[in-house]
Amino acid sequence: MKILVVFYSTYGHVYKMAEAVVAGAKQVEGADVKLVQVKETLSDEILQKMGALEARKAFSHVPEAEVDMLSKVDAIIFGTPTRFGNMCAQMRTFLDATGKLWMQGSLIGKLGSVFTSTGTQHGGQETTITSFHSTLLHQGMIIVGVPYSCKELTNMGEITGGGPYGASTLASGDGSRQPSANELAIARFQGEHVAKLAKKLSQSRN
Ligand SMILES: Cc1cc2nc3c(=O)[nH]c(=O)nc-3n(C[C@H](O)[C@H](O)[C@H](O)COP(=O)(O)O)c2cc1C
Repeated sequence: MKILVVFYSTYGHVYKMAEAVVAGAKQVEGADVKLVQVKETLSDEILQKMGALEARKAFSHVPEAEVDMLSKVDAIIFGTPTRFGNMCAQMRTFLDATGKLWMQGSLIGKLGSVFTSTGTQHGGQETTITSFHSTLLHQGMIIVGVPYSCKELTNMGEITGGGPYGASTLASGDGSRQPSANELAIARFQGEHVAKLAKKLSQSRN
């Protein structure tokens, strides 16, 4: 079965989480996992002012997402940084180009799952993920989160992202805090969990 991981990242935190999600999904036998990033909509001049140009080089090799890729897979896992408690505009722009798929019902019955990153502890991780879910539901997708069998969700020994809605990381503004081992473990779990469910679903459809 095919899994597509679609992300946008400005400074690289969501990219690192995406890599962990991919690694988790690849744990499942038979999983064909592809990582893609949505198109940047900001100019280099603005990215330069945001101090993001250098960071973005780390994932410039990742191919660009195309809308038609979504209809060819069994599950799609989306990663977006939080912007004012919501998904980023780059991801919104990509999703807003999926009207044709909606018209054709191409995503109905596929699995959809979301992970995120915020610059503050309570800056909207859950609102970003749950508001993202609305789009997936409009597309007829089946929402998958992270169940509490993922033991890292209950880690109270440190500050950490990650919840039943999806994996997440806390990114400090100066880049000094990168996704922690706990957060990456939750991201891997999410990837593996989605891939296991996609496998079951594709087997039941055959
Ligand atoms: C325009 C803008 C809005 C943001 N809004 C929020 C927010 O609502 N809550 C928050 O905690 N962080 C917010 N941030 C911080 C980003 O979420 C943070 O830079 C991002 O998670 C880092 O991920 P990345 O390295 O993959 O780009 C915002 C950043 C920008 C540029």
